[in-house]
Amino acid sequence: MAIRTIITYPHPVLRQKAEKITVFDQELKTLIEDMADTMYKAPGVGLAANQIGIARQLVVIDRSTEDNERKFLTLINPEITGGEGSVVDEEGCLSVIECYAKVKRFRKIHVTAQDADGNPLEFDAEERFARIIQHEVDHLLGTLFIDRLSSLKRALYKKKLKKKIGRASCRERV
Ligand code: NI
Repeated sequence: MAIRTIITYPHPVLRQKAEKITVFDQELKTLIEDMADTMYKAPGVGLAANQIGIARQLVVIDRSTEDNERKFLTLINPEITGGEGSVVDEEGCLSVIECYAKVKRFRKIHVTAQDADGNPLEFDAEERFARIIQHEVDHLLGTLFIDRLSSLKRALYKKKLKKKIGRASCRERV
């Protein structure tokens, strides 16, 4: 178990396209456990490997329940192969400090990926779960949610970041 450092904007690793994972070994499993530890410590509800400085196609997503507070989904080499509908809702990111904004996403998506052992996964996701997956897959492509805002809103954020105004918030981040 190890908590890794979360990299924040504007670090260049967040802009790197993550590489496909082809080896499913113990080292990968350790990395997955570290990512889950890091996500829960933050706390966040999703984390992509780029966010801890590793540009590989791996994300973890919180799926905790009342009975299991450390239940999470691991997606390796995830791809969104279909999307329908659209929803605008607020997003925040562990790598983009002091910023929450409304982002438009598909309401429902179809996802293909692999699990920690390399087995194929294929499923549909909706609403909040679908939003988190879309946010994380964006990370693997080097895209941040602020890239999806209008240029005016993005400029305002950069200005705010320079002045370091704003306060910590308990809103959900991914
Ligand atoms: Ni994020």
